[in-house]
Amino acid sequence: MRTRIIGTGRAVPDTVLTNADFERMVDTSDEWITTRTGIKERRIANGEQALSDFAIPAAEQALEMAGVDGSDVDLVICATVTADTVFPATSTQIQHAIGAGTAAAFDISAACTGFIYGLGIADSMIRGGTATTAVVVGGEVLSKITDYTERATAVLFGDGAGAAVLRASPEEDHGLLSVALHSDGSLGKLIYRPGGGSRHPINSADSDHSLTYLRMRGNETFKIAVRSLAEVSDEVLTACGIGHSEVRWFIPHQANRRIIDAVGQRLEIPDGHTYINVDRYGNTSAASIPIALDELNRDGKIARGDIVLVSAFGSGLTWGAGVMRW
Ligand code: ACO
Repeated sequence: MRTRIIGTGRAVPDTVLTNADFERMVDTSDEWITTRTGIKERRIANGEQALSDFAIPAAEQALEMAGVDGSDVDLVICATVTADTVFPATSTQIQHAIGAGTAAAFDISAACTGFIYGLGIADSMIRGGTATTAVVVGGEVLSKITDYTERATAVLFGDGAGAAVLRASPEEDHGLLSVALHSDGSLGKLIYRPGGGSRHPINSADSDHSLTYLRMRGNETFKIAVRSLAEVSDEVLTACGIGHSEVRWFIPHQANRRIIDAVGQRLEIPDGHTYINVDRYGNTSAASIPIALDELNRDGKIARGDIVLVSAFGSGLTWGAGVMRW
């Protein structure tokens, strides 16, 4: 028995922030952003919108594609670092909105790797018999924790959500074949948000507002990202005996075009088999892989039997990968 993705969905804000917009906001240029990151524009939520405004429609679309009623869902996982509220979990809002009875629902915090952590957990729960039908959402509203006066991070991030419906399938050779998940907390300060938790609560007398913004040491992160994405992708392919040349779609986390190109070269993924949309969305953290997966799937570009490799890397540090035969 394997776990299969039987439906996907996505939702992003309508507002587009282009590199030209950033040229008016900070000391940067379209040329710098394009050559260093590959990003041309990103979607940004308005002041009223929160994660569930994108996570819920993404989940609804995925259910519609799967032909599954919300009442049949018994597990909802939402991967995010920008939930509507610190608690309760945004997954419970999704559970309620889709009418998922009294399904188990929880959020997971693994930053950009969150969707792959969600896939791995849902797969274990389905194959272990504690769930039959899961909705896994990866979503972020990083614009709410981005300092738009700080050019090194401001230009990188975007908002949105993607979702997948997972179900058990009796076919041994179709579905999720292998998942690998890793972390290294010694590198926790490469990408983090210092404030808003119990270390620096926002309600303390001396609370420093700047601590609530995301911070990143991009240059150091870059090198580790390339190495870990390549290694973990190799790990899952080796675990199920699939050669790199057999990968029809490699969907890496969309953080930076240069990282994607470097990993694709190391893995020797055939030309045209790596999916890239970072130019249109920027880095949407946990949403990046499910948004990309839905674009490919909804456009009919993934055929039954195709090998799909997903891998991601992010704050924690965390990294992981999954390989499936569609
Ligand atoms: N416009 C113009 N110049 C800029 C900008 C900007 N937007 N941002 C930085 N610079 C300048 C810097 O100040 C620096 O100037 P200096 O040489 O005078 O000091 C110069 O550009 C080079 O800066 P670097 O940080 O070394 O640039 P780099 O080539 O490394 O690119 C980037 C920066 C894009 C952030 C890259 O390092 C990167 O993508 N890192 C990985 C990010 C990542 O993968 N994060 C993981 C996921 S995030 C998550 O989990 C939420």
